[in-house]
Amino acid sequence: MSRHHSKGKQVKKHQQPTGDKRQQEPWRLDKPVFFVGFMGAGKSSVARRLARKGRVASVDVDFYLERREGKKITHIFDESGEEGFRAIETDVLKEIIDHETPSFVSCGGGIIKQPENRELLQRKGFVIYLKVSAQEAAGRISDLSTRPLFNDVEDAQKLNEERDPLYEQCAHAVINTSGKSVGRIAVEVQRILEEEGILWRSQK
Ligand code: S3P
Repeated sequence: MSRHHSKGKQVKKHQQPTGDKRQQEPWRLDKPVFFVGFMGAGKSSVARRLARKGRVASVDVDFYLERREGKKITHIFDESGEEGFRAIETDVLKEIIDHETPSFVSCGGGIIKQPENRELLQRKGFVIYLKVSAQEAAGRISDLSTRPLFNDVEDAQKLNEERDPLYEQCAHAVINTSGKSVGRIAVEVQRILEEEGILWRSQK
């Protein structure tokens, strides 16, 4: 089932660009766009694709976190456990929200576990839940050893089911990614953001 439930208010119509020149203008985002969803949902790939297309920035929370801490996520889990990792993750999220200009932000799959993070994401940006099954996710992740919480498909499926209501709860829009390419998902995201009046392709 493919759905985009726009939980937002009234859908704002926005001016479509007409000429080539206008299409080349970088996009403008009214607020950060956060991608949430299970590991392997395509959050980082979709954020990068859209950033390239619209010539705006993208931030990967996990990548940012590893750079800031100077350690791989697996190392942080080994050293400080999931609890230690979650504390750093929340801190990094706040730093990104405070310092980055509106951009496409891909979040780690467990970011929605902390109520504080859900509230922040929802209040500060537009949250898109990319939905995926654990089975399909397993096929998309090239190296599962980099994901401390993805042990096997059965456990991952339980975790994904547990988290689903939390993803839903903080999402402004939901896209089922099953069987879809990164390009196709990116096009759906773009359409939603334009309909919501968050992404502008018109000139300043
Ligand atoms: C996690 C997902 C990972 C990473 C960490 C924990 C999770 O990010 O943050 O391994 O709890 O689901 P991706 O969703 O980008 O794989």
